[in-house]
Amino acid sequence: MVKKIIMDVDTGSDDSIAIMAAVRCPEIELVAVCAVGGARTVANTTENSLRVLDAMGAKGIPVYSGCNSNLVRNFARHRAPRRFTPPVIVNGREYRMHDDLLSLPPSVTAPMEQNAVSFYIEFFRSTKEPVTIVASGPLTNLACALSIAPDIAGRIERIVIMGGGDKATNSSLSAESNFWQDPEAAQIVLASGAKIVLVPLDCTHTAYITKDEIAHLRSIGTFEANYAAELTEQRMYVHNAQQPLEVPDCAPIHDAFVLCYVADESLITEMERVHVDVGFGGAGDGHSIIDRNTRNPLPPNCLFARRANREAFRDMLYRLFTY
Ligand code: RIB
Ligand code: CA
Repeated sequence: MVKKIIMDVDTGSDDSIAIMAAVRCPEIELVAVCAVGGARTVANTTENSLRVLDAMGAKGIPVYSGCNSNLVRNFARHRAPRRFTPPVIVNGREYRMHDDLLSLPPSVTAPMEQNAVSFYIEFFRSTKEPVTIVASGPLTNLACALSIAPDIAGRIERIVIMGGGDKATNSSLSAESNFWQDPEAAQIVLASGAKIVLVPLDCTHTAYITKDEIAHLRSIGTFEANYAAELTEQRMYVHNAQQPLEVPDCAPIHDAFVLCYVADESLITEMERVHVDVGFGGAGDGHSIIDRNTRNPLPPNCLFARRANREAFRDMLYRLFTY
C-alpha cells in the first residue's frame, strides 16, 4: 500500500536527497513539505526545498514555511557550543555539511501562504487517512503544532524522526544536531503521546555510503543520481575531516535513510522500545537521555533504532534514482 507522508525538513544536503527519494519512491505519496530553520535559516530551507522539487519537475507538492528559531534556547540560557563549524578545504575548494543555498536554479514555485504549524493542525484535524510525518530537522514546527493542538497527536499515523543519539553525537559533546538545535521541541514531541520511531545517529551511521558507491550513483546519470552523488561527496569530505566514521571515505545521509525506512521497514534491523527524554542546559543541551532502568522502567515513548541494513538502503537509492 502507498504510504502518505509529510516531510518536515531543514533542507540542506541530506534532506535534499530525502526529498528526491520521496518523490521518486512508488511506495510513498508526498502530501506536503514543511520547512523549519535548523541547518540553515527557514527562508533558506524553504527555498532549498522548492529548488529540489522544481529541479525534479515535481508538481503539486505544497511547501509550507515554518518556525525559524528554536523555542527558547537563544533567549533563555547558555548554549552548548557547536563542535564543528569551519569549512573543509579539498583541492582548493571549500566544503560545508550544508551550503546556505543549494547549487540549483532559484525556485520558480512559491511557498504556500499558510504557515507550517497551522497547516499541521488544520490537516490532521480534518484528514481521515493515515498520514506519517517524516521529520529530519529540529522539531520546532511539530512542537508548536502539538502544543497548540495536543489532540492531533493521536491523529498522526506516526512520527518518524531523524534525531538524537545514544553513543554517537555530532554537534556537541552530548548531542546530535536536530536535538541540539531545539532541545525543548524534541522533548515536547517525545512527550506528546504520538507514536514515534526515533532514528538516531547510532543507526544512521551504520547506513553510510562509500566513495565507490558515490561513483556508482554518479554513473546512473539521472539528475537525482548525479545530485545525490554530488551532495554525498560533499558530506564525505566534511565527515573525513571532522566526523570520521569507522570506515574511511564514506558519509551517512541520515535523512534519506529515514525516508527510505518509511517505504521499507526492513531497512532497520534492530529497534528497542524505550523511554527517551531530552536534556537542556549547557553541555547537556539536546542530550538523548535513555531510560536504562530495567527493573522499573518508565513507560516507553518511542521505538529507538539501533542498526541499519546499509546494502539494502544503498540498493534502494540506486533503484529510486534509475529510470
Ligand atoms: O544530525 C544529522 C541531522 O542534522 C540531519 O538531519 C542533517 O540534515 C542535519 O540537519
Ligand atoms: Ca536535516
